[in-house]
Formats: sequence, structure tokens, C-alpha cells
Amino acid sequence: MKKTKTSSSLPLTPNARTVLERRYLRRDPEGKILESPEDMFRRVAQTIASAETRFETGQDPAALEEKFYRMMTSLEFLPNSPTLMNAGRELGQLSACFVLPVDDSMESIFEAIKNTALIHKSGGGTGFSFSRIRPANDVVASTTGVSSGPLSFMKVFDAATETIKQGGTRRGANMGILRIDHPDIMDFIMCKRDQTVLTNFNISVGMTEAFMDAVERDAEYDLCNPRDGKPVKKLSARKVFEHIVELAWTNGEPGIIFLDRLNRDNPTPLVGEIESTNPCGEQPLLPYESCNLGSINLATMLDGDEIDWDKLGETVKLGTRFLDNVIEVNKYPLALIDEMTRANRKIGLGVMGWADMLILLDIPYNSPQAVQLGEKMMKFINDRAHEASMDLAAERGAFPNFKGSIYDRPGARPMRNATCTTIAPTGTISIIASSSSGIEPLFAVSYVRQVLDNDILVEVNPLFEKVAKERGFYSPELMKLIAEHGTIADIPEIPEDVRRVFVTSHDILPEDHIRMQAAFQKHTDNAVSKTVNFCNTATRDDVSTVYRLAYQSGCKGVTIYRDGSRDMQVLSMAKKE
Ligand code: CDP
Repeated sequence: MKKTKTSSSLPLTPNARTVLERRYLRRDPEGKILESPEDMFRRVAQTIASAETRFETGQDPAALEEKFYRMMTSLEFLPNSPTLMNAGRELGQLSACFVLPVDDSMESIFEAIKNTALIHKSGGGTGFSFSRIRPANDVVASTTGVSSGPLSFMKVFDAATETIKQGGTRRGANMGILRIDHPDIMDFIMCKRDQTVLTNFNISVGMTEAFMDAVERDAEYDLCNPRDGKPVKKLSARKVFEHIVELAWTNGEPGIIFLDRLNRDNPTPLVGEIESTNPCGEQPLLPYESCNLGSINLATMLDGDEIDWDKLGETVKLGTRFLDNVIEVNKYPLALIDEMTRANRKIGLGVMGWADMLILLDIPYNSPQAVQLGEKMMKFINDRAHEASMDLAAERGAFPNFKGSIYDRPGARPMRNATCTTIAPTGTISIIASSSSGIEPLFAVSYVRQVLDNDILVEVNPLFEKVAKERGFYSPELMKLIAEHGTIADIPEIPEDVRRVFVTSHDILPEDHIRMQAAFQKHTDNAVSKTVNFCNTATRDDVSTVYRLAYQSGCKGVTIYRDGSRDMQVLSMAKKE
């Protein structure tokens, strides 16, 4: 690797450095850290820019490397964690998201478990639909025994994940989906009520429009055996819906995804049907597809108190090229994944720091103005990313499955990528960028964050600290009070206009969360990662209303969380001593 002069002027916070040192920087076999954060960004920039040499029309790799390096070290754009960890290293696996098929046979199930192990080892997360597995107690012809059903096989996936723990990079994450019309659906809905089981899974129910319709009409619907598609039982749609709501209210799971909607936006319907997303729900994929994500830090896209649209447009263009290059240099864990990923070339450019941007613009997150700006901003990003992908297609060719895709219309310009945009959770890269995560509102002005398994970091929002100092109301005592209190909404020492803009996820209504999710979804090719936070006193009806609103407003799925409802919370307010 080329050694370049390193500057110590990277704008990294101590927390960001801690995260990088623990998991991202290269180490020798004894565990000694071999590179600085600057070296890491250089390694990534150089590796991703080197893809240019594969094309006759490629740009000058050295010049592009500098652009990529600058874009990352200024924290304007960061790729997903596996790219930061693995680019230019032996492993070389750069994608965060994978979906694997699980068919109704022992061979297929255990093949998927083996492939899961390979993916987790490399830092990726896996999603599966278990809907094709025949229900529990069905016939097994070859042994004349009875089948175990999807849930017992999920436990095997979970145990495999537990054992691997991703070889020291990051914990394996899985998404498990079961269709609402699978005969074992009631057991699936209940399966995480005991919080000590399936801990390596997020679970979501795959909703259909027929089901949602039956809920509205208070009608019954059919459960069908996937083995032959024949109806085996009828259930009241409303009762099943209430059951999902009850469990989600209890501890946040299951989430829901809207399968018909995912497939209506499936860019390559002739290639296959979408039946699952990645672990955090933002990336629907076909079986054996993978996707690499990257996020623009919106807090860095301002010029004074205005949005710098030119800079944002340029960053989208460069980010799109970066992610398309990632597909080129990526080392895929399986030949089948290599093939599928290169055939559709899905990328997921998104944002982080949206709440920060709103604060800097003096716009409350829970205002109509914020929702309108969110929609306008994402339309701009999506349009620019599509233009960039068309330019790349002109240079490098369309994605191989372009013919027959939803873009293949008379007169349409070919695209290089079957999808361009995704709103990722940015759980770790937002710590590196010291920004608010994804499109989430601030969680709190001061809080304790649990990251990377069991490590704890204490954080005070830097924007708030700055404003507090500038406006003269900063004091360590007040910051401590806020950390204990969780919200500034009713602290009189803080000026009213500051309280209005520094709203946190618990200050705003669940409906405000959904409105923002829907605004971004409108112009996002893939899906939007968003958790709708409820206060502890929220009712089941509140949850039900939000699930329906998400459906009505065009979201592709919903994840909710009621404060205090899980034994372990990823984010929690500082506890009173
Ligand atoms: O911030 P970072 O790039 O680390 O990841 P993220 O945006 O929070 O998550 C993006 C995706 O990475 C998730 O939806 C999962 O597919 C995957 N992921 C995972 O497999 N394991 C984790 N521990 C975290 C994320």
C-alpha cells in the first residue's frame, strides 16, 4: 500500500476514534494496530478508485483516489462498515446486505446455513424468507415422519450465527421473514416473546395487500401450505393483525414489511420475486443478491444557513461512482452472489445527519416544513443518483439484466444500477461521522449509547453543546440534568426557540416519524430504515394506528419500539445515579 503523508487534522471525535480503533483499523496477528484512521481512508480510497483501470473509459485512478479520500476524510460521505473494514485487505468483502434463498428441503436449508456462516464471517448481514418451508407437523415423504417447521429451523440459523460472531469484526445479524398466509404464522408472531431466544434475528411479518384489505373489511383470510399452495385454514385477519400489534407493543417485534409494495418496485421482476430484505429492513433483495451502501452526511452539505445544492449534487455523483466501483472490486463470499450482484448492480446511496441539518436550518423535525424539505431533498438525491447511474451506463454499459427491467422503456436511457438509493440505519458510520443517524430525529440531547456488543459510550449532542455555549446557558449541571431528564421540552432555563428545534424522538408523535419515513420513501428506490419510537405509556391502539398509517402512506415496512419494553436497549437515557 502506498504510504502517503498523513495529516492529524481529521475531524474525528474521541468516540469515532474509539470505534475505529476497536474494529476498523488493520492489526497484526498480535493485535497491534497497524494503521491510522487516515491510512484506513487512504486504503479504502485507493482500492475503490483502482476499479477505474478495468474500464477503457475509466478516470485517472490517482485523481479519483484523492476525491474519494477527501470525501471520506471530510466526513461528507462514508461507505458501509464492511467497505471501511475490508477494502484493500485480504478478506475484501465490502457489502453490508445479503439475502439467501431457503427452500423446502434439508439440502437447501443447510446450504443456506453454510452460506450464512461465510457471509457473517466477512462482516455482512443476511435476510431470509422462511415462507417456502412446509409447516410444522406436515408430512415428510422420504421418512414418513413429520416436519419441524420454519421456526425450529430458524433456531439452527440462530445457533450458527451465535457460534460465528463474525470472527471479531461484527456480530452477525439476520432478518427472518414469514408470509402472513403461512400456516405457522401465529407461532412466528409469538416467537420472540421470550427475549432470550432468536437473539441474532430481527423478525418481520410479510404482509400482503389481500391481508391488509381483509383487516379493513374485518374478513377472514386463507393460510396456505407452501408445499402445494392449497388453503388449509382460515383466520380472522383483524385478530391476526391485533396479535402482531400486541407483540410489537410488548417488545418491538415483529416488524412488518409490505411484500406487494416491495415487488411493485422490484426493478427486475423477470429475474425473480423479492421475498426478503436485509437485517435492518432497508434493502429488499432477490435471493443471492448483495448490496453495498453509502451515506452522505447532510450536516456537511450546508453553505451558511442554506443547503448547498451544488455540493450535494456533486457528492451524489461521486458517491454513485464510488458505490458502482465497489461492485467491481468486491470479493464476494460465493460465486452465485458474485453473479447475481454483478447482473443487477444494486447500490444504496442514502443520507445521515438529517436531524442535524434540520437543526442547523432552524427547522423542527416535527413540522410540515421538515417533511416537505425531506421529500424535496430525497427527490434531488434520487434524481441525481439516477443521472449519475445513466452516465455510468454510457461509459461502462447498463447492468446486464437491464433488458426486461422496469427501466427498459422506449427512449429511456440505460442505467448502470438496478437501484441507486437506500436509507440505511448508519448505526456505526454515524458515530464515525459524529452525525445523527440516517433520517432519525435526535434520540436525546445527552445519552448513553451501547455499541459494538457491550461497549458503552456517553455522548452529549455537539450541536446542542455549541448552541448552549453560544447562547450562554451552558453549565455542566444543566447538561447532567438533561441527561437524567431525557428531554429539554420542559426545562425553563433553555430558551423556547432552542427547545422547539432540539426535539428528540420521544418529544415527537409517532405519526411524525411515519410522515418523515413516507416523505423519504417516496423518492428512494429501495427502502428506508426507521424506528418509530413510542413512549412507555403508548397503547396498543397507538401502535395499530401507526402500522395502518405506514401502510396508507406508502412505506415499505415499519419497525416500532416502545421505550423500556425490552430488557436490553441499544440506546438509553443516562440513568440517575
Ligand atoms: O453504520 P454501518 O455501515 O455499520 O451499518 P448500518 O447502516 O447500521 O447497517 C446497514 C446494514 O448492515 C444492516 O441493515 C445490516 O444488513 C448490516 N449489519 C449487520 O449485518 N450487522 C451489524 N451488526 C450491523 C449492520
